[in-house]
Amino acid sequence: MNALTRGRGLLFGGDYNPEQWPEHVWAEDAELMKAAGVNLVTVGVFSWARLEPEPGARDFGWLDRVMDLMDGAGIAVDLATPTASPPPWLGHRWPQTLPVDESGHRLWYGSRNQFCPSSPVYRERALGIVTDLADRYAGHPALALWHVGNEYGQVCHCDESAAAFRAWLQDKYGDLATLNEAWGTTFWSQRYSDWAEIVTPRRAPYLINPTQQLDWRRFCSDALLAHYRAERDILRGRTPDTPVTTNFMGLFKPVDYWSWAGEEDIVSNDCYPDPGDPLSPARTALTHDLMRGLGRGRPWLLMEQSAGAVNWRPHNLPKPPGQLRLESLQAVARGADGLCYFQWRASRFGAERFHAAMVPHAGPDTRLHAEVRAHGRELRALSSVAGQPVPARVALVFGWESWWALEERGRPSDRLNATDQLLAYYVPLWERGVSVDVVPPSAGLAGYALVVVPNLFLVSDRDAAALTDYVRGGGVLMVGPFSGIVDDRAHVRTGRFPAPLREVIGASGEEWLPVDGEVRCRWSGGAEFTARTWTELMAAEGAEAVAEFAGSGRPAVLRHRAGEGVAWYVATMPEPAALAEVTARALADAGVRGAVPGGARLPPDVEAVRRGDVLFLLNHGAETASVPVPGPAEDLLTGATADGAVTLAPRAVAALRSHG
Ligand code: GAL
Repeated sequence: MNALTRGRGLLFGGDYNPEQWPEHVWAEDAELMKAAGVNLVTVGVFSWARLEPEPGARDFGWLDRVMDLMDGAGIAVDLATPTASPPPWLGHRWPQTLPVDESGHRLWYGSRNQFCPSSPVYRERALGIVTDLADRYAGHPALALWHVGNEYGQVCHCDESAAAFRAWLQDKYGDLATLNEAWGTTFWSQRYSDWAEIVTPRRAPYLINPTQQLDWRRFCSDALLAHYRAERDILRGRTPDTPVTTNFMGLFKPVDYWSWAGEEDIVSNDCYPDPGDPLSPARTALTHDLMRGLGRGRPWLLMEQSAGAVNWRPHNLPKPPGQLRLESLQAVARGADGLCYFQWRASRFGAERFHAAMVPHAGPDTRLHAEVRAHGRELRALSSVAGQPVPARVALVFGWESWWALEERGRPSDRLNATDQLLAYYVPLWERGVSVDVVPPSAGLAGYALVVVPNLFLVSDRDAAALTDYVRGGGVLMVGPFSGIVDDRAHVRTGRFPAPLREVIGASGEEWLPVDGEVRCRWSGGAEFTARTWTELMAAEGAEAVAEFAGSGRPAVLRHRAGEGVAWYVATMPEPAALAEVTARALADAGVRGAVPGGARLPPDVEAVRRGDVLFLLNHGAETASVPVPGPAEDLLTGATADGAVTLAPRAVAALRSHG
């Protein structure tokens, strides 16, 4: 990333699809881009049919001209491999490249993403165009970054996928007896006697084997990764110094980004906060922190966001004035070194005609484009932030495998979800301006003062032992309900739960007791709060019951001193204020305070995060807010000096660097 931002400062731009426009528009694009401070554009994401109009043909002339135009304008190109959307000729001539859904129906061209990740023909054709693209543009002065495919997430149940799944399973288990044992196939007479009998989890009469499903999800993520790697290796072979990325989609279930992130040079993400969701600011902050975590703390790139309304929700709310700036700066505050949009110029035709863009249909002389331009220019004032880290003393543990395993059908309640739990535990930290690293269950935890585990339904012996050691060594741990329940084959760990964490939390349970509506709980001091959906029949075994289910004597929240550290266990889903209270106590145990001096509480809807030596304050609310700050400090965005407090109008942002 440093190579990209060196001399450019923060990156600013978007998806540029000049193939949708006559060439006389391109010159205007370049001029408008320069005026808006655009320094990076993503080109060619959906251009396969244009580059290869029929099998084996090549038409690079137009792309040569686009690359030269961008170079002349001083704009770097993030050149995409066009393999997310194959041309109709691929599916027409080789229907086996088209994906098949779980009911066995083929999905057709006429949209995008219609490929089977395990199709040898797709692979061959995709690598063919990627090779020629890389050969052609290696050494082109505009080429700054490679963008492989787009938003990987395809799943296919065709026979070729089934064969690839079997090969993956053979590699994992070696022999059928081991697979039968891992999948628990004595249940419902599912024992396999020949590898050829194993299929993908296609549509079946009733619930499907959960371990088969879990392995299928692992396989699907790996199959896509194998394809990504094949493209990446071609690019790296030809341009070893040009970084490679592929755009993630935040908390996207089908792909285990922990296993992907190390395979790219820069982590990038597409983020489309829902303007109608009051939790959007915190949800988005969480996603940004995840991206930083995926890059092990390195700066990341916001590859796509929208300048206004999207077109794919049923009812698409616009972004009010100031919102695009606020959202973009939120990403900078949380570690992004680049802010890009989908897309530069709004399409006249195609399925995304009504998606906002940096240049709307009405043209550049518009409120929206004026905002884009002002924002692009003001980013220069933040150049020194590029490359700076976002230090955090709190880790939030999240794993895709546990997510997959938790949300299989046939569980005590489908109202306990991994990402809802993650957000619920994140919000009270966000509200206090406590910076958080999102980490995988296998992460080294030594540097953290507090480790929060909102849910870890599936936990390996090793990761459970690491959590225990972390507490014994002096760490503070906070664990949410229904954690430590299954092993990595999704087999229930027998004995009182959470078996592998029982010792460290100093408590254990024997029954899950989901509830309808609310239950009353009581702090040991007497005050009451409510919880909902989920309760557990727990007994303390050394832990102190900090709160009980009212009138039952059963613990609801437990605190346990173990070794040098402290473990908290929450056996229900407390109302937000109560979870915030537990979080505050765990933070106090850990000695962690928020971004604002003296640990001051932030006004509602105000976000505070420190990046490098800059304190970012963002007002997501509808009211003007006043925030205490260390003074005196300079607001890099306005040049004004703040001393003691900053007043933030709705949607305002301050980027404060202390004097001296
Ligand atoms: C993304 C995608 C873009 C565009 C955008 C619209 O998911 O990568 O190509 O479709 O959504 O919001």
